[in-house]
Amino acid sequence: MPEINAESNFKKLPYDPKRLQRELTKYYISSTKTEQAEMLSAIKLKNLSDLYAHIPDNVKFDKAPFVTEELNYNDLIAHVEEVAAKNKIKTCFIGDGLKNYKVHEIVPYVCALRGLTTAYTPYQPERSQGTLNTLWIYSSTLSMLTGFEAINASFYDRSTTLFEAIQTSLRLVKNTNTALVCESIYPGDIEVLKTHALETGLKIITIPTDPETGITNIEIARKLALEIGSKLSAIAFPQVNNFGNLEDVHQLTDLCTELNIQSIALFDPMLLATEGLIPPVEFGSEKQGANMIVGEGQHLAIAPNFGGPGLGIFGIRYNEKNKLDIRSTAGRFIGRAKDSEGKACLCMVLSTREQHIRRDKAMSNICSNQSFIASAAGAAILGRGEDGMTESTLLGRDYAMQMAQVLTQYKGVNLAFPATPFYNEFTLELPITVSELQKKASLANLQLGVDVSKRLNDGRNLLLLSFFDVHTDEDLEKLESFFRDNFEALENDEFLPEIPENFLRTTKVGLPNLEIEEIRSYYKKLADLNVSPDDNIYPLGSCTMKYNPYINDYAAGLKGFTDVHPQAPVEDAQGCLKILYSIQEMFKSITGLPAVTTQPVAGAQGELVGLKLFQAYHRNNGESETRNILLIPRSAHGTNPATATMAGFETKTVDGIEYGIVTIEADKKGQIDFEQMKAAISKYNKRIAGVMVTNPNTSGIFENCFKEMSKLIHEAGGLVYMDGANMNAIAGWIDLDKMGVDAVHNNLHKTWTIPHGGGGPGDGIVAVSKLLIDFLPGIQVTKTNEGFYNIIRAPKTIGSFHRHFGNFAHKVRAYTYIKSLGGNGVREMSSVAVLSSRYLHEKLKPSFPSLPEGCDNEIRMHEFILTITKDTFARIEAGGTPKAQAIAKIGKLFLDFGLHAPTVAFPEIYGLMIEPTETYSKGELDRFVDVVNAILELVNETPHVLRTVPHFTPVKKVDEVDANKNLLFMESLKILPTLYTNVIDPLKLSRMNISDVSHEILRAHNEA
Ligand SMILES: Cc1ncc(COP(=O)(O)O)c(C=O)c1O
Repeated sequence: MPEINAESNFKKLPYDPKRLQRELTKYYISSTKTEQAEMLSAIKLKNLSDLYAHIPDNVKFDKAPFVTEELNYNDLIAHVEEVAAKNKIKTCFIGDGLKNYKVHEIVPYVCALRGLTTAYTPYQPERSQGTLNTLWIYSSTLSMLTGFEAINASFYDRSTTLFEAIQTSLRLVKNTNTALVCESIYPGDIEVLKTHALETGLKIITIPTDPETGITNIEIARKLALEIGSKLSAIAFPQVNNFGNLEDVHQLTDLCTELNIQSIALFDPMLLATEGLIPPVEFGSEKQGANMIVGEGQHLAIAPNFGGPGLGIFGIRYNEKNKLDIRSTAGRFIGRAKDSEGKACLCMVLSTREQHIRRDKAMSNICSNQSFIASAAGAAILGRGEDGMTESTLLGRDYAMQMAQVLTQYKGVNLAFPATPFYNEFTLELPITVSELQKKASLANLQLGVDVSKRLNDGRNLLLLSFFDVHTDEDLEKLESFFRDNFEALENDEFLPEIPENFLRTTKVGLPNLEIEEIRSYYKKLADLNVSPDDNIYPLGSCTMKYNPYINDYAAGLKGFTDVHPQAPVEDAQGCLKILYSIQEMFKSITGLPAVTTQPVAGAQGELVGLKLFQAYHRNNGESETRNILLIPRSAHGTNPATATMAGFETKTVDGIEYGIVTIEADKKGQIDFEQMKAAISKYNKRIAGVMVTNPNTSGIFENCFKEMSKLIHEAGGLVYMDGANMNAIAGWIDLDKMGVDAVHNNLHKTWTIPHGGGGPGDGIVAVSKLLIDFLPGIQVTKTNEGFYNIIRAPKTIGSFHRHFGNFAHKVRAYTYIKSLGGNGVREMSSVAVLSSRYLHEKLKPSFPSLPEGCDNEIRMHEFILTITKDTFARIEAGGTPKAQAIAKIGKLFLDFGLHAPTVAFPEIYGLMIEPTETYSKGELDRFVDVVNAILELVNETPHVLRTVPHFTPVKKVDEVDANKNLLFMESLKILPTLYTNVIDPLKLSRMNISDVSHEILRAHNEA
């Protein structure tokens, strides 16, 4: 057994784990063995394994799978440091796909605020003003930089944002199916775009880069556009292209205006600071502006982190002339609102277009986004302020100018496009191959830049160099001396191209210059407005709000990991590749499946990867046209049908023939109606592409027919997708290979302890069966016998969903967590999560009916759904609250007890879905039972209290309907937005005598 009391490495940590309630508990489980025995006895079971007795043995692991060796806390610290140290951090002039700016000092501060990092998506605006304000600052500052009135709360990254923008253009320009994309966009983005577009009906055509100028030739663009004609929806173009050259954004925007199509501009937010480049709102000869903007914002907030998490910036116009386009876009927007007392506050707006409401009619399947990176980016922009942003931008520019002048003094080294203006990145033509020079540079401790010769393929050796504020004069000296050592010096005064005036910003951004202390104390206050699973049960069902160990963040924050650029040579990134390789191996063991892709950045993206793999498999068998039916149970998470549509399975009936999603109902036991499933399999048979099933399902019930269902689907030639968002119930117990799963995603931000970040970034690793290995997307990491990690692509790869390796920093977190569990810990973690849930359900069942109706006594796993009796509904209605609002209002009463609400009205409209996880002690679970019963008592005896809930949050009931009617997405920030404090601190409420809280609620209601 690992020793748990060794502490020699604790002093390296920026926190004291001994002072944290849950950090040093074994497997991060708070209930003791005695408490677990008591809970087992309360549900009349003896052992943790009895919790799985109702599941057929033929889908179980015979014993705990070997996931990894288990490390104690002290050894884990040393271990992650050792892995990070395997990376070689060199002086790096790589930018290209991902820029590399200094991390502002406010960022680590904000990243350590647990109220912000550990919270969920702000679905309860009264309890989430902290998160909402961080996102408001993000969207407002991005609006100030770009001039765009509406910036959403983020997409995954630039590549997927580009796809979302093009999808929007198809909705805005009717009867179109084609987009033109400049080839001068970063190739990784184009690959992701094409991977998404396959089998959706969207055609992507690229506009070649002019080899002489290194930018897009406008006449060629026009010619291609005219050839496509009325089917063209948009042209997407970069402001700074993949050679570092400045495109003529005015001509490109004018062309779109002339053709009456959408202009989609890719931009770098750092370069839009005062004295930087012209903002996209002013593109075009009439300053008409681009229609949509797409950018990467990772470098606003964090270091390269081997490529992720990124931050997809998306903006669209919303002004007097154009208020409608925004209705055709996906993702969350934060809007100004008022509470019931008229106080200004914030909430999410326009969510009715999202998958949790519109399902297969949703604009996109995006659910978790990159929320926390957006929050950190907003803080970093404020931290830099007006002057700091300009300073950072100009520093990169100055360095680039200096180096362009200096490096072209060597024989054979020239600017590749001498007449084309650039900003802080430029391309050199070399007299030798770039790879040859890079090898030499590596010995001189340099990561020289990127070999972009293939981007033109005109026989020239092209090296792209990038300069940022992260560089120093010494770095430039090192670069120059390397050139001095390798090339003959010449007296050659290269004439550097000037940037035309109309490419430059002429107005100030107008960001405030605030004191760092003021920003710190503001964000601290924001964190205090949220609640965190650190302190209390966060009963949000389906979201697995469990404890996020501090040590995961420590590991992910090691400079050895954070400072590695994803385009660094593999020899320099062995530590990162070890993490990715190990994660692949760990998830092979956890799922029982033979291969894993680490690319997907969220559960919903994992689903999309799964379905795209299914399509590739059928295409390979010559069946892509004929397999057009997907079977999905009614209770499926909204992302499942939305994903199916996004992948190209449009639900429609043509000439009496159904296409797309066929819905399967639940039976009386709350499981898939197997008779209906069998009937559907025999009806659609060879037309079935696959089935998508969440197991355990969203009612917390295990689908016992899964294996049999898989067999029938396979016999029909279809494939089986399992939504593995609920792995916290079954990890280490259930062998997905035995169940017949072909693809499954694991939400690392649920089971595997990645913080939710107020809505993301998540992570959605996908494991696959042997049928799909050859088609895997992105990069696979392999290991030689000598222990060297390499990267390869699957032979029939479907392409890429991320331009690099996915949300790498999250892999470090999950790796660290799984190392602290080993195989036994994985089993114990999931079984105690199920035990806690079954114990709570047992205690609450006497007072609350369960849903689905008639399933009160069906065995639940990690979560369960409660509702209220007809009598309670009647009392609530008599007390002045309509039945349709009753459950949402009861959710608000949880806030009054210092908790977050359960998941309300999903998947059952009258349901409260509760998931306790393994994080809490029996005492905490018992108190939760008492709180829920006290809520029922209040509702039964004084139902009118629901009219004024919640009472103790910083703002009262938020008027979301009004906020959706009167949309306002930004303010020009001169000072920090006003904040209100909690009426009673949630931590205090959660420690108060429960009857005192009820008393306070009644008092507050009477005073309201
Ligand atoms: C069952 C289920 N499937 C899929 C998802 C989507 O995952 P993500 O938000 O990571 O995209 C969720 C997220 O809440 C979920 O609960």
